[in-house]
Amino acid sequence: MNDVVLLLGGTGRTGTRVMEELLNRGVSVRAIVRSESRVRADLASHPGLDLVQADIASLADDELRRQLADCTAVVSCLGHTLTLRGIFGPPRDLVADTVARVRRAAERVRPEVPIRFVVMTSVSVNRPGRADVRRGAGERFYLWLVRGLAPPASDNQRAADVLAGSEPPALEWVVVRPDALVDDDRSDYRLHQEIVDSLFRPDTSHFADIAHFFADLVTDEEVWRRWRGRMPVISSVR
Ligand SMILES: NC(=O)c1ccc[n+]([C@@H]2O[C@H](COP(=O)([O-])OP(=O)(O)OC[C@H]3O[C@@H](n4cnc5c(N)ncnc54)[C@H](OP(=O)(O)O)[C@@H]3O)[C@@H](O)[C@H]2O)c1
Repeated sequence: MNDVVLLLGGTGRTGTRVMEELLNRGVSVRAIVRSESRVRADLASHPGLDLVQADIASLADDELRRQLADCTAVVSCLGHTLTLRGIFGPPRDLVADTVARVRRAAERVRPEVPIRFVVMTSVSVNRPGRADVRRGAGERFYLWLVRGLAPPASDNQRAADVLAGSEPPALEWVVVRPDALVDDDRSDYRLHQEIVDSLFRPDTSHFADIAHFFADLVTDEEVWRRWRGRMPVISSVR
């Protein structure tokens, strides 16, 4: 059976690069998109792409389960649109709610081999149980403020918390934490177990590097085994 990857957020800046990378590697992609017209034109007609036009935030649980049933992996590049409505309007828990629903759907599908779930969050996300190096007081205050003022920041943390410390038999996960996103090509990117830079001195994560790592995760057994159940920080090398 051909592997199918379910891609969420495939019309976004990172999601588009992930879609391109997966298709270039010969992986079949099923993308749930709000509007097919937002899919990059040269990718939209790719024979390996199956487009499902629906809003993941309001997609019925049964339908999500149906779309997931034949997939070996799910990749989420969902993020709040950077507009006033996207940041402060509903759904405030877009990422966390979707992660919880994918997890439930996987449990209902009961796949023979656990479904791989790769979730894009941010370097602002903390590993639970204070597993990361402790951030400085200024940074902790800044995060507290940002999470209080901008719902998307806390949404990413909640999404990670949904998965952290658990591994239901139906689903294995990796939560990827990029730093400042930059639209740039591949570099010899580095993967870190924990936070390496201050939020005040951000590193960069190229879209192309993130896409490469995500595609490795869903296609390469060794890469998956290395990072499964972890929250790697990805930083590009200039
Ligand atoms: N900005 C940074 O420097 C930075 C750094 C690290 C991590 N991140 C995180 O990286 C993630 C992705 O970033 P990005 O810049 O690639 O995102 P993006 O370009 O804004 O794309 C967001 C994706 O989510 C979809 N989406 C947004 N609101 C939705 C809703 N209400 N319902 C359904 N789908 C919705 C968008 O669909 P449409 O095309 O239909 O709008 C799009 O496919 C975000 O979680 C962000 O927090 C960002």
